[in-house]
Amino acid sequence: MKKKRSTFSAMGYLIFFVTVAAIITCAVLIYSFLSERAGKLTIAVAMLIVVVVLAGVCTLIDVIRRKYMVERPVREILRATERIAAGDFKVRLTARHGYERYDEYDEIYENINRMAAELSRNEVLKTDFISNVSHEIKTPLSVISNHATLLQDETLTEEERAEYTKALLAASKRLTDLVTDILKLNKLENQVIPEQKTTLHLGDFLGEIVLGFEDLIEGKNIELTCDIDDVTFSADKTYLEIISNNLLSNAVKFTPEGGKISVSLKEGEKDVVLKVSDTGCGMTPEVGARIFDKFYQGDTSHRQQGNGLGLALVKKVIDLMGGSIRVESELGKGSTFWVTLKK
Ligand SMILES: Nc1ncnc2c1ncn2[C@@H]1O[C@H](COP(=O)(O)OP(=O)(O)OP(=O)(O)O)[C@@H](O)[C@H]1O
Ligand SMILES: [Mg+2]
Repeated sequence: MKKKRSTFSAMGYLIFFVTVAAIITCAVLIYSFLSERAGKLTIAVAMLIVVVVLAGVCTLIDVIRRKYMVERPVREILRATERIAAGDFKVRLTARHGYERYDEYDEIYENINRMAAELSRNEVLKTDFISNVSHEIKTPLSVISNHATLLQDETLTEEERAEYTKALLAASKRLTDLVTDILKLNKLENQVIPEQKTTLHLGDFLGEIVLGFEDLIEGKNIELTCDIDDVTFSADKTYLEIISNNLLSNAVKFTPEGGKISVSLKEGEKDVVLKVSDTGCGMTPEVGARIFDKFYQGDTSHRQQGNGLGLALVKKVIDLMGGSIRVESELGKGSTFWVTLKK
């Protein structure tokens, strides 16, 4: 904790006071000395000189004080804020004093440095976000344009036409999903839509979500085990949909043919725990540490569908609900996600 001192410290006032008192004392001494020895005119001239010297010294002290204690830091602040306003976030001000004499200006300097650092961090996030979005849009767009060109060929067979149309539809769905997820995340981050709690029978709710993945699970011949308590829980339905849909879609996506997925929902005294476990490809600890980052995908070859926003959305929703998420995973063996929500 820094020792705070006012810019206009008691010491500064004391120096000013002592100087003025010394000058007035000198003036009084000169007056009493001259009053016995000199005439009125000499006294008047001497007093005038004393007044001029007194006023001059006071002005000089004030000028020096203003220059070093007020004008210089204000000018530095002005220059720094002008550079920040012009978009230069590299500006950093060096504190004028150390621990002992830390004052309000040092505090303003530190705040400006923090503000510039925060703005520069946001700038990096913004450019990263734009480049990620552009990258994610580019792939489906080129699929759309390639297949649209191919479809113009009149000699295509029915099967070829159907295949290209399917690819075109899949790419446009990927674009729609991407835009939907970005909008959802944006709304959640800006808290545009407040949490709307309703009382839910979590067992039935989760059962329906699992049913939505039935075709995919059967298609990959995955063995599904469910152990779901019928918990009554008050929460925002859309938030719970985001959590369970994303965890299940990942489990199905990253589990190969013939694998296993288990879903459990358990009610504790103060919380509800959702567990989604799979025997899929698993992750390395390095991948596991980044899975909640926006646009992060462990497999950079993008062999799997998706844009890396699912778990970022899940994490955001859980944070808003005041819950927590934990993952345990081993490469080649599988992953388990636990979501704990307070009742
Ligand atoms: N169950 C899982 N098994 C193995 N890896 C997983 C699992 N769940 C998530 N991951 C890793 O975390 C990454 C991020 O997951 P996330 O859900 O955010 O994105 P995605 O599934 O790739 O795309 P999206 O969810 O946007 O469709 C995945 O790309 C994958 O590498
Ligand atoms: Mg996902």
